[in-house]
Amino acid sequence: MELKGLKVTWLGHATFRIVTPKGNTILIDPWVMGNPACPESEKQVKKVDVMLCTHGHFDHIGDAVEIAKKHSPKVVCIPEMAGWLGKKGVKNLAEMNKGGTQHIDDIHVTMVHAVHSCGITDGDQVVYGGEACGYVVKFDNGVTIYHAGDTMAFSDMKIIHELWRPQIAMLPIGDHYTMDPRQAAYAAELLQPKAIIPMHFGTFPVLTGKPSELAKLAEGAEVIEMKPGETLS
Ligand code: NI
Ligand code: MN
Repeated sequence: MELKGLKVTWLGHATFRIVTPKGNTILIDPWVMGNPACPESEKQVKKVDVMLCTHGHFDHIGDAVEIAKKHSPKVVCIPEMAGWLGKKGVKNLAEMNKGGTQHIDDIHVTMVHAVHSCGITDGDQVVYGGEACGYVVKFDNGVTIYHAGDTMAFSDMKIIHELWRPQIAMLPIGDHYTMDPRQAAYAAELLQPKAIIPMHFGTFPVLTGKPSELAKLAEGAEVIEMKPGETLS
C-alpha cells in the first residue's frame, strides 16, 4: 500500500494517529490514556492538530476532553456531541453532519453514515450524542482513508466507494458491538478498498473477531494486521 508520505499509527481499538506530509497530526477516536490496548509508550499524546470523533461511547471519546484541552486541536464531530464537548470546556469545535466535507489545510474530511448508537455517559446520566458516524479523509497527496467507526455492514457503503473511492478501509471486526469478519468481508465487497486495516477487536473478551478470519474471506483486498503502536508509512 503506497501511503505517499502519510504515517498511519494504530493506537489500539478504534484509535489511529495519522501524520500528513505537511506535518498535521490527526487523532481519530481519542481513547488513549484509558485504552488498555494502547501501548504505554504512546499514552503521552505529544501533538494533535485535528481530532475526529465517530461517536460518544467511552471507548471512542473517553479521553477527548482531556486531550482537546491540552493540545487545542480542531475537533470534528456531530453537532450534538459538539454541544456536550463545549459544555465540558472544549474549544475549537468544528461541528458538521453526514454528507458534509470540511477542508482543514491538507485534509478533506467527509462525515458519513454508520449504523450504531451514540449516547454519551456523563456521570450517572446518558446524554444524547447525535448519531454515530464514520469519516472519509482525503489527503492532498491523493490517498483516501475511510474509518468506519462502530458499525454493522450497510448497503450505502457502496455510495462511499462510488463517490470517494477510499484505497484504505479501517473496519471494525470484533463482533458483539459492531460487525464481525464475515460482515467486514461483505463491506469490503461494497467498498472495494486496496487494503483493509481491521480494528475494534480483542480489546475486551466479547470482541472475538480476528483479522485472520477476515483475511480468509476478503477477496481482492489486502488485510493489514497491525499491532498497537505500529506505524505504516
Ligand atoms: Ni460504540
Ligand atoms: Mn466501540
